[in-house]
Amino acid sequence: MTVQHPTPAPAEVKARHRALWALGDYPSVADTVIPHLGETLVDAVRIAPGERVLDVAAGCGNASLPAARAGGDVTASDLTPELLAVGRARAEAEGLPLLWDVADAEDLPYPSATFDVVLSCVGVMFAPVHEAAAAELVRVCRPGGRLGLLAWTPEGFIGRLLAAIRPWAPPPPPGAQPPPLWGREEHVLDLLGDGVVDVRAERHDLVVDAFATPEEFRRFFVERYGPTVAVHRSVADDPAQRVAVEAAIDAVAAKAADAHGVMRWEYLLLTATRT
Ligand SMILES: C[S@@+](CC[C@H](N)C(=O)[O-])C[C@H]1O[C@@H](n2cnc3c(N)ncnc32)[C@H](O)[C@@H]1O
Repeated sequence: MTVQHPTPAPAEVKARHRALWALGDYPSVADTVIPHLGETLVDAVRIAPGERVLDVAAGCGNASLPAARAGGDVTASDLTPELLAVGRARAEAEGLPLLWDVADAEDLPYPSATFDVVLSCVGVMFAPVHEAAAAELVRVCRPGGRLGLLAWTPEGFIGRLLAAIRPWAPPPPPGAQPPPLWGREEHVLDLLGDGVVDVRAERHDLVVDAFATPEEFRRFFVERYGPTVAVHRSVADDPAQRVAVEAAIDAVAAKAADAHGVMRWEYLLLTATRT
């Protein structure tokens, strides 16, 4: 299959998504629950000093910063300037020379074949038109370069959380697909088509022990994680719906936690070589 270049979602959808990810306090979510996922992804693609690296949907640099520490010449790109600003401050504090670009994953502002390595850590999965984003990942990676993608699976914790709050979320734009499909190997292979070879895909569990109870998890997430903040705020004036949203989140968290409150969040780690 040849990778096509489908139409990105419209600008008003992107504006809504940008606002959503600026809600709450995403940097504290990344610091609390996934501080090592970026390093996991960077280790998997084995960055050599001086390689040109693009992190797509980089947020505040969860993968970009370790990629720069590994010696990469890193560009961190994301839709949400508020998150890039946090990453930039962190990089400056460490003396790391990254570039921070506001950019839509479905329409990247880089010439074809610019980067040796293209990464995304639980990031590009949130761009609504999967075919458009996948085509861009492939386009900006040079032939023989590497792609590294880490995504929550549909069956894993964040997949189930997003499904549980979907009844209260705004309807997805035309052409959008659910983000956790990027956690299914067959879906990603279909998206990348003959743009890649030498694909390696593994499912792993992230152990999350930051929350003693499901309610503690829910309070943290409805205050800080954009998608859950948005849904919770949308029912703020409707006590019955608020209770229903909170119960839906609690139920997902309770089902995932063991007797000590420890959860396992499944993700797919996929690496490939650009043809
Ligand atoms: C869960 S966060 C992941 C951020 C970061 N990669 C990390 O590991 O912490 C999802 C990110 O996707 C970004 N995002 C959502 N839609 C996007 C799009 N169309 N283009 C670029 N970034 C997008 C959000 O702004 C947010 O930073």
